[in-house]
Amino acid sequence: MRIFVDSADVEEIKKLHELGFISGATTNPSLVAKSGREPREIYRELAEMLDHVSAEVVAEDAEGMYREGKELASIHPNIVVKVPFTPEGLKAVGKLKADGVRVNVTLIFSAAQALIAARAGADFVSPFIGRIDDIGYSGVEIVRETAKIFMLYDLPTEIIAASIRHPAHFIEAARAGAHIGTVPPAVIWKLLKHPLTDIGLEKFLSDWRKAQENRAG
Ligand code: E4P
Repeated sequence: MRIFVDSADVEEIKKLHELGFISGATTNPSLVAKSGREPREIYRELAEMLDHVSAEVVAEDAEGMYREGKELASIHPNIVVKVPFTPEGLKAVGKLKADGVRVNVTLIFSAAQALIAARAGADFVSPFIGRIDDIGYSGVEIVRETAKIFMLYDLPTEIIAASIRHPAHFIEAARAGAHIGTVPPAVIWKLLKHPLTDIGLEKFLSDWRKAQENRAG
């Protein structure tokens, strides 16, 4: 599973990118609104750093989504246009694909929606694990079913496990067959921490220092 950051905070994403394991970022209108910044600037800065930057349209009709998607894609070749799973969104997928624009269909809550989006031509589908859990179902199961169906029918669409809320979601998404997990920075920092790593390192370093002191004296 490749690892993306789910955020529009460019400084935070830069810090994580320096660690060497991040290959993309996903944003959404709420995350961009929270940043208080000009959306195009955010997308450009992120696309200069990462191979995949999902930028979401806010128009609600297919024609508007298409126009907005084309404009977003013109910012940088690494921009992937994010379109909501609605009938108008599906129409927009076809139009954007015909122009060679990569598309991520978002707000996916069932394997059926994922299959339909894939057949409409989506390059990526984003099932929302946490929000599915919130309504009493298993988000990870939707990822697992989707991965199985895509494999059975040899579909090239990639699954981006989204709405990852905690470290267990991350590893469960990987086990369920997600191609990509998009993870909020706070969850990534938690994944980087393990008490046994800290304890182990402390012991290695103190043994080393003791041996140096003994040799010296
Ligand atoms: C996906 O691309 C969305 O940006 C995101 O994962 C939504 O997560 P949330 O349900 O925690 O808001």
